[in-house]
Amino acid sequence: MSADKNHENLFQTIVAHAKEYGFVFPSSEIYDGLAAVYDYGSNGVELKNNLKQFWWSSMTQLHDNIVGIDAAIFMHPTVWKASGHVDGFNDPMIDNKDSKKRYRVDHLIEEKASQYQKENKPQEAQRLLDTFNELLKKEDLESIRNLILEEKIVCPVSGTANWTEVRQFNLMFSTQIGSVAEEANTIYLRPETAQGIFVNFLNVQKSARMKIPFGIAQIGKAFRNEIVARQFTFRMREFEQMEMQFFIRPGTELEWYEKWKEIRLRWHRALGIPAEKLKFHVHEKLAHYANAACDIEYAFPFGSKEVEGIHSRTDYDLSRHEQYSKKKIKYFDEEIKQSYTPYVIETSIGADRCFLMLLCEAYTTDKGIDAEGNEKERIYLKLIPALAPIKVAVFPLVKKDGLPDKAIKLYNDLKFEMRAIYEEGAAIGKRYTRQDLIGTPYCVTIDHQTLEDDTVTIRLRDDASQFRLPIDKVKDWLLERVSLQALLKKLA
Ligand code: GAP
Repeated sequence: MSADKNHENLFQTIVAHAKEYGFVFPSSEIYDGLAAVYDYGSNGVELKNNLKQFWWSSMTQLHDNIVGIDAAIFMHPTVWKASGHVDGFNDPMIDNKDSKKRYRVDHLIEEKASQYQKENKPQEAQRLLDTFNELLKKEDLESIRNLILEEKIVCPVSGTANWTEVRQFNLMFSTQIGSVAEEANTIYLRPETAQGIFVNFLNVQKSARMKIPFGIAQIGKAFRNEIVARQFTFRMREFEQMEMQFFIRPGTELEWYEKWKEIRLRWHRALGIPAEKLKFHVHEKLAHYANAACDIEYAFPFGSKEVEGIHSRTDYDLSRHEQYSKKKIKYFDEEIKQSYTPYVIETSIGADRCFLMLLCEAYTTDKGIDAEGNEKERIYLKLIPALAPIKVAVFPLVKKDGLPDKAIKLYNDLKFEMRAIYEEGAAIGKRYTRQDLIGTPYCVTIDHQTLEDDTVTIRLRDDASQFRLPIDKVKDWLLERVSLQALLKKLA
């Protein structure tokens, strides 16, 4: 089997695992799902919350010059004119002149590709998708139209190939605000959280008495009507961003840009991602507002892809908001006795994409030994303990002899400090396996020896080894390993 096929299989296995073990479900699955929209299950929400909490604490708690905000998803429509999203945030579409119907080009191409699949021509399907993606990257709209003609793609309504030029289609979702249709205004679901920070720059700077250099951090939903929505939670239409805008003196931006690149790479390493799987991808072609930009890429099973963007955004956004709002957005720098529009370094990471990175990195298969002593494959999620959905599972070895009472007492004590679960059904090996599959780093078993000497068995997820510990030491032993503090200290 080719390496690509192997990687594709591995990725599909991880996606299936995510569903089976309560991490991620397709949205509205009973109605066959909604493309590129996903729901997080009982374990997924814990992992995602832990991840967000780690990002939030690492930004706000560890940097005394960064504060947070939580801006609304809906914003004044002029925000998106000022930011450039109304005019420049596009993907291609095409109209059929006979039926007057409009299509997203990716839908037509995908339809043709699935036709090839049905005809048992998977290579043709792949070739078509690859060619389309290449042209899309180059924004070569004329060649995209030619591809549609060469592929003899016809309008499903008129049956003709009488197509217009390919034109750009805005990725923002719009809706109406106001109850009466005639009075209603079109507003957008924000395509990035950053603008909520820019428009609140002065509010935060003044109310929190911040002095430049300082940052504003935010975690929140963003929405994009993505044209190529594939690869699970990698590219979604509704997703969450964790963004930080760092406001600085003009002229210092390249220095700060380098600093933030280093800080952010260290953060990814603290997540347990090996250095060889992370790399910077420097943007050759810069957005009009940036004077330096790069991505932190992770080696996903489907290739090395962006997880986070670090951008030196100059004073573009604040200046544009000043221009459009006609309100002065300036900072008076006491130190140099000058007023200026601050420059900005942005760090922007998708929570869902980062979650997917963690899942891909954690999925591990090992040769293990089953209860009968036979060799068998063991699957577990090697999540770092502070992020694991469940930190500890407490088990009585058997459901009798007073063991459950003792185990419940320990569980009731631990649950105030960390996410713990108690389970007494099924054989102990099966209970360990269930915890391995969701990434629980530690299991604590109360057995007959506990009744004699008050020690318990601690079982480690990663090598399935076991040792005994006095029951009164269990809480501190766990806290040292599973707390967010332990993880934050890695950044010191
Ligand atoms: N404010 C800058 C900004 O939004 P971006 O590169 O478009 O920059 C930043 O997005 C991050 O948001 C990406 O690195 C990615 O992690 C995440 N992201 C963007 N679009 C996404 C999508 N459709 N689905 C999931 N995550 C996405």
